[in-house]
Amino acid sequence: MRNIVTGNWKCNKLWDEADKLMVEVVEGMQSAGHTEVMVAPPSPYLAALRPRCNEFVALSSQQCSASGEGAHTGEYTASMLKSIGVKSVLIGHSERRESFGETNAAVAAKMKQTLDAGLMAILCCGENLDERDAGRHFEKVLAQLSHALSDVSSEEMDRVVVAYEPIWAIGTGRTASAEQEMHAAIRQHLTALFNQSIADSTRILYGGSCKPSNALEIFMQPDVNGGLIGGAALNATDFLAIVKASNEAISKAQ
Ligand code: 13P
Repeated sequence: MRNIVTGNWKCNKLWDEADKLMVEVVEGMQSAGHTEVMVAPPSPYLAALRPRCNEFVALSSQQCSASGEGAHTGEYTASMLKSIGVKSVLIGHSERRESFGETNAAVAAKMKQTLDAGLMAILCCGENLDERDAGRHFEKVLAQLSHALSDVSSEEMDRVVVAYEPIWAIGTGRTASAEQEMHAAIRQHLTALFNQSIADSTRILYGGSCKPSNALEIFMQPDVNGGLIGGAALNATDFLAIVKASNEAISKAQ
């Protein structure tokens, strides 16, 4: 199974900077390795960056609409993203859940829109510090997964990737040192929701202060299948070093 490393640029970079970063990432990605690489730039740049991609770097969207085409000012659909060559959509990122009121129901609707459009869904989940301190982190994350996957079929699961991002580790420099424990719990939950073979073949990414210096250690954990990278994805050298660490982790495990 190949790892996935996705760079989430969030709301950063003006156009010239974004274009330059994309060129640098693609220049550094001239072979396949053991890792699928995706980049999620701000949505206004997606169509313009599409010609910059090569076969080793694909585009991801940071989100999509919970509904289809129609009178929904400011929204854009998963099908629109598909029509410009986007490969995957980040769904339910904690920043969208916390700052834009994205509910579990909205996340489930976005999963449906994304999978119906034929795209890959990168489903984000994670607990905040209060929930972790209260020992409710497993309950929180597994409930997020149950809601988000309630309308997803076994057949569609080969286009679903889970990204575990503890909120307290995002942009803070703190990583979840026991992330393997949560990744294993997620995989076990996928077995309960679907079956063992689907659970085993679902990629579970880690996100939260992943950087070149800690990436290999994170990716060496048995149930970690790559990363969702924020701050370190804004610099091509760092991002490419993280991709290299992912390739190395797979090589070592073989
Ligand atoms: P950082 O890598 O900046 O902690 O962000 C993680 C993240 O939220 C990626 O989606």
